Amino acid sequence: MAAAIDLKQPKPSEGGGIEPLVRLVESDLKRVNEIILDKMQSPVALIPQLAGHIIAAGGKRLRPMLTLASARLCKAEGERQMALAACVEFIHTATLLHDDVVDASELRRGLQTANAVFGNKASVLVGDFLFSRAFQLMVEDGSLKVLKALSDASAIIAEGEVHQLMTANDMATDEGAYLEVIRAKTAALFAAACQVGAIVAGRPEADEEALYGYGLNFGIAFQLVDDILDYTGDDGGLGKSCGDDFREGKITLPVVLAYARGDESERAFWRRCLEDLDQGEGDFAHALQLLNRHRAIADSKGRAQEYGARAREAMVVLPDNEARQALLDVVDFCVERLY
Ligand code: IPE
Ligand code: IPE
Ligand code: MG
Ligand code: MG
Ligand code: MG
Repeated sequence: MAAAIDLKQPKPSEGGGIEPLVRLVESDLKRVNEIILDKMQSPVALIPQLAGHIIAAGGKRLRPMLTLASARLCKAEGERQMALAACVEFIHTATLLHDDVVDASELRRGLQTANAVFGNKASVLVGDFLFSRAFQLMVEDGSLKVLKALSDASAIIAEGEVHQLMTANDMATDEGAYLEVIRAKTAALFAAACQVGAIVAGRPEADEEALYGYGLNFGIAFQLVDDILDYTGDDGGLGKSCGDDFREGKITLPVVLAYARGDESERAFWRRCLEDLDQGEGDFAHALQLLNRHRAIADSKGRAQEYGARAREAMVVLPDNEARQALLDVVDFCVERLY
């Protein structure tokens, strides 16, 4: 049985969007999902049970689609990219399991989080299992270049999450530190996922670098939007609980901008809520008012658009084909997304 992929469709009038990417890799992605289901098996029943919970809930499968589309863009032959796309999704899924424990989140992909259902201990350990499976898939592939790209990304993601722990509850965090965190925790995997497509196709280093640059800037834009949606989104649409960043005192770009532009009483408000975590009813709504009053949401969106444009620019050196167009379109879709 293949895992359900809960891909919400873009409005038909939009054109572009995520549709061309989905169509381009549809048949490859079926194979990837089979590999994912096969490789999440274990005689230890709790592993497939817990992994199945988050994997069958769907998700956008964005990162494996990036690997598959990058491979197509580079005219890769053969099947290696299928297992490597599965490997990329395993790394992503492992980070989500760990992330929901760290963020004490209760909703993911429209379901209760694995930590809410199975507990923190099981979530952390099954996350470790999925990470390890990812490394087994890389070893089976046999390319040291792939191993380097994805193991570097894995280490950088962990560094990013720890760095974020250090910036949490600290209003002295500036835009530079914030960008460092999201570059590491999110963009590094986008970059490597794309780079792998060029590696399996045996393309010159310049093409690898172009796809890496595309993925890195796309990933930064993607996380900027995620951080905006944590304030402006709705749980139903996103399938995860909004407001977690505020509740946990994460210092994201909207907050950095509003804090810098606020008066002394507003700054005291942010410090009370995000540093002391002393929050009451109405504080989240007030935070949202301040973010809007100081154009912090609009300017963060502008930043996401800038990084989206950089992602598209990185592609100009690559051949203009259907896959490249799909990768260009999905950047716009993600910058404008509501889920
Ligand atoms: C969630 O990523 C984690 C972030 C980097 C914000 P996605 O929004 O791609 O999650 P799924 O895979 O679609 O559930
Ligand atoms: C992304 O950050 C985390 C990882 C890259 C693992 P978030 O903590 O904002 O992701 P969501 O919002 O829970 O999906
Ligand atoms: Mg989280
Ligand atoms: Mg997090
Ligand atoms: Mg988030």
